[in-house]
Amino acid sequence: MNLAVIGSGGREHALCYKLRQSKEVKKLYCIPGNAGTKKFADNINQDVSNFEEVYRVLKDKKIDLVIVGPEEPLVNGIVDFLTERKINVFGPNKFSSQLEGSKAFMKNLCKKYDIPTANFGIFDELNTAFNFLEKSELPIVVKADGLAAGKGVSICKSKEEAKTKIKEIIEGKFKSSKKVVLEEFIEGEELSYFCVVDKNTFRFFGSAQDHKRVGEGDTGPNTGGMGAYSPASLLTKKLEEKIIKKIIEPTLKALKEMGNSYKGFLYAGLMIKENEPYLIEYNIRMGDPECQVLMMRLKTSLFDVVKSVINNDLKNLSIEWSDENCMTIVLCSRGYPDKYEKNIEIKNLDKVINDEKNQIFHAGTIEKNKKIFSNGGRVLNVTSLGNNLINTRKKCLYNLNKIGWGDGFFRKDIGWRIIEKK
Ligand code: AMP
Ligand code: GLY
Repeated sequence: MNLAVIGSGGREHALCYKLRQSKEVKKLYCIPGNAGTKKFADNINQDVSNFEEVYRVLKDKKIDLVIVGPEEPLVNGIVDFLTERKINVFGPNKFSSQLEGSKAFMKNLCKKYDIPTANFGIFDELNTAFNFLEKSELPIVVKADGLAAGKGVSICKSKEEAKTKIKEIIEGKFKSSKKVVLEEFIEGEELSYFCVVDKNTFRFFGSAQDHKRVGEGDTGPNTGGMGAYSPASLLTKKLEEKIIKKIIEPTLKALKEMGNSYKGFLYAGLMIKENEPYLIEYNIRMGDPECQVLMMRLKTSLFDVVKSVINNDLKNLSIEWSDENCMTIVLCSRGYPDKYEKNIEIKNLDKVINDEKNQIFHAGTIEKNKKIFSNGGRVLNVTSLGNNLINTRKKCLYNLNKIGWGDGFFRKDIGWRIIEKK
């Protein structure tokens, strides 16, 4: 079979790495890909927001199956577009993608189906939002309704700050929507819970914890993710039963009742408070960088997982995971998540061990004349498997120091909450 992965981040590099291990995958393409995906797939330099052109490329290369990595094309309906044209696609349709594309949609669904989530209000008008704010306790979480590339959520400690954020959203700071969601702040520990879903059933697809803040000790502004590890120590059998019964099953049932079945990866961002799960957000895709650690731990062929979803045969597949833990640390361009420079050469990559326990997944990189240059804020994901998280982190840091990219920075404390508990 010929496959294509859509996207250009570390997540897509990890998907290509894993897919390449299956003999059934004859040709593998990545659209547009990066300097790392090139090792496992043929990159096709095509703008993925132009669905007509993507379709033309898929036909041209005789691609049988497409896996969509990022949220934007999913929310914009790439699955519906390609399915209508008889292409097999792994990913949810436009309707189901509202789980991530519209926080208002997700919150209303939670309310209707009694799914535990933070108390909230949805507003498209300043006065009513401010009235709700007056009656709310602090801190309060202010969220843009639509996609905002990780920049749409603010945890506000004062009403003044909340008013500024509300105003920005209602006045159109984010092109995707002018609605604002005001939400109760839930104090707890975060857990990322992943499933893979077909028309009939779903399977657990790993757990992880990521670190979204730029600074050590989880301080400073939010980023796309500075590092992650898997499995998440927080997840017990009992907690998992609650997540499934109270959150995952009612969500999939709700979508079905609305005439839609879900297909693809589903990522529940949860807050765990007194052993109870609360849904903070849904993502309709794999996490980035969580995907990188999950692909290293996945023992089952990713191609078999994807094929089972396309054939609605997931119930007959058992998905196996390595007992080892995995960590990834993100090497970023200096200045990220604010201003940073691009096009800086990264040397020494060939000096780092590259085997089934250590991988460097590329994110914002580009290859020119056989040299690798930075091309984004998050540049490389230095990833290792190990049998104890402290040693796994040491391996990642050892590899990062070997690269020794002076124009970048990384957090040295990924996994600190659990490592310090030990
Ligand atoms: P989101 O983009 O919705 O995942 O929000 C980004 C981050 O903000 C989350 O990972 C949480 O750390 C935090 N957050 C969002 N909503 C809440 C909430 N209701 N209570 C506490 N923290 C939250
Ligand atoms: N690492 C967070 C995300 O992928 O949304």
